[in-house]
Amino acid sequence: MIVTGREVINMSISLGLEDVFIKYTSLTSIDGEKGELRYRGYDIKDLVEHCSFEEVAYLMFYGELPKRDELEHFKSNVMKNYKIPENVKNIIKNMPRDGDALAIMEAAFAALSTEEYTWEKERDREKAAEIMGRALGIVSAVFRYRDGREIKDPENKGYAEAFLNACFDSGIDEDKIKAMNAALILYIDHEVPASTTAALVASSTLSDMYSCVTAAIAALKGPLHGGAAEAAYKQFLAIKSPENVDSWFNENILNNKKRLMGFGHRVYKTYDPRMLIFKELARKNAKTDEQKKILELAERLEALGVKNFGQKKIFPNTDYYSGIVFNEIGFPLYMFTTLFALSRVVGWVAHISEYVESEERLIRPRAIYIGPEKRDVVPIDKR
Ligand code: CMC
Repeated sequence: MIVTGREVINMSISLGLEDVFIKYTSLTSIDGEKGELRYRGYDIKDLVEHCSFEEVAYLMFYGELPKRDELEHFKSNVMKNYKIPENVKNIIKNMPRDGDALAIMEAAFAALSTEEYTWEKERDREKAAEIMGRALGIVSAVFRYRDGREIKDPENKGYAEAFLNACFDSGIDEDKIKAMNAALILYIDHEVPASTTAALVASSTLSDMYSCVTAAIAALKGPLHGGAAEAAYKQFLAIKSPENVDSWFNENILNNKKRLMGFGHRVYKTYDPRMLIFKELARKNAKTDEQKKILELAERLEALGVKNFGQKKIFPNTDYYSGIVFNEIGFPLYMFTTLFALSRVVGWVAHISEYVESEERLIRPRAIYIGPEKRDVVPIDKR
């Protein structure tokens, strides 16, 4: 592209930044054709099987899986930040009780940025552990407030267990903790989707980390990104029962050309590997009749979706079954995107640290002007 004053010659833009590469990364690699996802070289399935969320977060921040003493040290740095400051609790409690949970999380993160001014390179890792801890305190507080209960300070336990215990007063068992731990690992990072890109844009101005996370949360909110698990689950609720799947699909997807939520991906051209793990978890944790019914319905709809869209390389993505798992753990629909954000905070922070440490170039793209030529202002009474 050649720019001469106002004129742009040989112009081309990539709508949606499709196929534009904006950074080098050692964090996450995706093979969209084979349906593979790796964090720093480790297959996602392997990590879910063998690691805690904190181990994988450490891997993302430091580059290697921790030794036991390194993990203990990291965990204690995260834990000491579980409890959120009183002013942040008050901000949460001053939001409308039925307000959007993710927006309340966003406001809490923005509040934490009020005493931060710029990027502090030498404190990246320390900040990463702090933000991870704060995220647990904030999201559990948002849930309890939205659910009409007193905010409870989290206990000093492992992340998944501390989070569930801070959210619920009873009913937490080993299966639920394992499912939460797996979900947290699965959502940690996915290269540079919209939210991570938003965080990168903010970090490239050397804004502080809390502000960068706030920017990412705003970009996560929409149904084409983080909101998809909620949208997919709403679809299951609308269908009501497995017998209605065929007629619902014909009327809504085939006749009215609506999108099947939880299907399709910009990168995956086959099954999203995270979705396969979420499906296993959904099967394992479906205990009540209602949960079994939703699962059966979702599986029938999945089969129909793959039959109709598979040849266009549209397959279920991670958000198709994740809402079912969150619901089986005990969370209502309105928390799904916020739970995604709780985990993705790690990916955002790892990416922005990587960017600032290695590239540190202001992200400032251009737009090609296609509006009117120069003209004079006509005073308001003469228009
Ligand atoms: N249902 C039906 N048709 C679809 C779907 C779908 N879910 N997704 C894509 N298509 C069709 C689309 O109609 C278009 O067809 P045609 O070429 O005949 O016009 C073709 O596939 C390409 O669609 P596109 O919108 O150009 O593709 P994209 O790469 O921009 O779409 C997407 C990616 C995720 C926005 C899209 O698949 C979608 O809207 N899915 C539903 C929402 C969803 O599940 N989002 C979660 C994404 S994964 C989680 C994350 O990474 O955040």
